[in-house]
Amino acid sequence: MITTPQAARPAGDGPDRTTALITTKTELRARRAELEGTVAAVFTMGALHEGHLALVARARELADHVLLTDFVNPLQFGPGEDYEAYPRDLDADLAVVDGLVDLVFAPAVEEMYPVLPPTVSVTAGRAGTILEGAARPGHFDGVVTVVTKLLQLTSPQLAVFGRKDAQQLAIIQRLVADLDLPVRIEPVEIHREASGLARSSRNAYLSDQGREQALALSRTIAAARDAAPSAAAVRRALVAAVDRAEIDWDYALALDPATLEEITADHRGEALVVLAGRVEDVRLLDAAVVVATAD
Ligand code: PAF
Repeated sequence: MITTPQAARPAGDGPDRTTALITTKTELRARRAELEGTVAAVFTMGALHEGHLALVARARELADHVLLTDFVNPLQFGPGEDYEAYPRDLDADLAVVDGLVDLVFAPAVEEMYPVLPPTVSVTAGRAGTILEGAARPGHFDGVVTVVTKLLQLTSPQLAVFGRKDAQQLAIIQRLVADLDLPVRIEPVEIHREASGLARSSRNAYLSDQGREQALALSRTIAAARDAAPSAAAVRRALVAAVDRAEIDWDYALALDPATLEEITADHRGEALVVLAGRVEDVRLLDAAVVVATAD
């Protein structure tokens, strides 16, 4: 049952918690202050689907309370990207998470940004200008600005983010480390179909043949895992995948998670394998963390 802020009671553990809808920062701060125990935040732009439910499920495992934000952030849309057309259906979103989260914060744009664009904002630096950011100037600056504001407003002990948006996750991990934000970022594993294909709402646009072709992504993740821990072998596996050209690759790279620079053969530690490519004009992503060290 969704309640208005006035009627809502703070929810406890269990599947039958009452979900309160909140639209103002003042109300959010007041309700947040009432929550005892740990709070996990799940930040979304709405259009909630099973991927979001996996984040909520992980948040519920990790904390006493779950706070979900539902806000289409104008700052992360570029001029050619259709911010206006982004799907918005708050009632449908509330139905998806009803009883699963304690609070849903769904502010209007004017509530989040009384001045738009804000005079002061956060930048993702070079990490925001490469890979997904190369074609979307300013996108990751918009993401880190809104995430910083949402962390300030919700004061969670931890915030969950999916591993599939690997660059976003890596940049948010840097944001928290570089700005000493008092929150733990909890990555949530990619949900895969039985075939290995990473789950995505975009998979629905693929034909049977396209789905088969798209398995090149998860096969490449498996090849990189098999090649680990040799950094040189991981790099060779990715080059070989691109050379096979089973899909129209945008990139297949192994990155240092701290800098998002490509690893070299003498790398030591974790490497973030990031893949992006097109199948039947559908852009697909996959990612994994592997251990990669010099031979
Ligand atoms: O991943 C998203 O949905 C968005 O980028 C986020 C983190 C909610 C910020 O608007």
